[in-house]
Amino acid sequence: MNYKKLKRKLRRINPSRDFKKIKDQYATLYKIRLKEKEDIICIKRAGSLAVDILNQVEEHIRPGTTTNEINAIVEELTRKNKARSAPLNYRGFPKSVCTSVNNVICHGIPNDTVLKDGDIVNVDVTPILDGYFADASKTFFVGSPGRDAHKIVSVARECLRLGILVVKPGNRTGDIGYAIQKNAEGQGCSVVREYVGHGVGFEFHEPPQVPHFGQKGQGIPLVPGMVFTIEPMINLGKHSLHVLSDNWTAVTDDGSLSAQFEQTVLVTDESFETLTPFD
Ligand code: MF3
Ligand code: CO
Ligand code: CO
Repeated sequence: MNYKKLKRKLRRINPSRDFKKIKDQYATLYKIRLKEKEDIICIKRAGSLAVDILNQVEEHIRPGTTTNEINAIVEELTRKNKARSAPLNYRGFPKSVCTSVNNVICHGIPNDTVLKDGDIVNVDVTPILDGYFADASKTFFVGSPGRDAHKIVSVARECLRLGILVVKPGNRTGDIGYAIQKNAEGQGCSVVREYVGHGVGFEFHEPPQVPHFGQKGQGIPLVPGMVFTIEPMINLGKHSLHVLSDNWTAVTDDGSLSAQFEQTVLVTDESFETLTPFD
């Protein structure tokens, strides 16, 4: 092979050139903004803060804690770290964190509600640090959980784990949804349809949408540099829901328990990296 040909061939497999090309394609085709190395470092910093906040909150959760107290802890830690809370005033959301208790699926608003022994509470935080967003949530037990609480929390945690494990270039968003739905329904639980994972990093909610249900091989192909959340909301009963008159709080129609775990995930050259690492 002559030198010119070799040079052309090498250029064709130059990953940084391919990245730029795919970055433009994804912006045009899907409005997805792929993240560069420097962006990822910054989202990771916001992600570490998100995990720190969740860990601090966990230490304060016991029977008697109010969801307003959780909000206060989140606010203080966020301020101490010179960050901001994305939820505060987001489309009119009045607090800095979502606290979703028992049959509340998501977007619970902190208030004077007192947590009691046996409750479960999801705490969902999104700090903005140096302009970058990371989104993560965990469901905690209050005191000692009953059987149902145990079940729904472990199924939801496993759904997130299995969803993350299929993240790699060439797989599609539908593969994530499929893995999650299969596990949830296999355990006799159901997957919420109305709320989905989402691109994140430059903004709170970016394209693409990442449903937690779906079919293998469907949806948008994953490419390195994509950053999105996976945040399955899993119900012990049926998946249908309604939103309360505060226009935020989503609750299960059948009153069954609902649990959720969320991480911000990066697609790497080989597979994935979580930017909000916890297990
Ligand atoms: N953190 C939620 C998510 O995972 C969104 C909350 S919107 C808010 O996407 F306004 F309720 F904070
Ligand atoms: Co999210
Ligand atoms: Co969230």
